Amino acid sequence: MSAPEVLFFVCGRERPPGKEACGSTHQSNILLKELRDVLKLRGLRIGVRATLSGCLGLCKNGPHALLTPSMEWFSGFSRKDIPALADRIEKEIHDKHTT
Ligand code: FES
Repeated sequence: MSAPEVLFFVCGRERPPGKEACGSTHQSNILLKELRDVLKLRGLRIGVRATLSGCLGLCKNGPHALLTPSMEWFSGFSRKDIPALADRIEKEIHDKHTT
């Protein structure tokens, strides 16, 4: 198995009630699952990994995610943004194979 060429890190940090965090306040784990389902439906499973991470250091107004290798940040996304996130990841995979 080779290392993924494209990674999408979604902060899954949990904090106690009253303290903002991507996981506990913005349900990033549920959004990530929905994103993975869309990527799977599109057949985008090879060379890409969308995964939970620890705190990415932004914290407020989340959830936050980071796409590599472009190092593009995504913040404050919601369920309605999942197709656009999948589009962006698909483009990253395409770009990786054409550069
Ligand atoms: S809690 Fe998500 S970036 Fe810090």
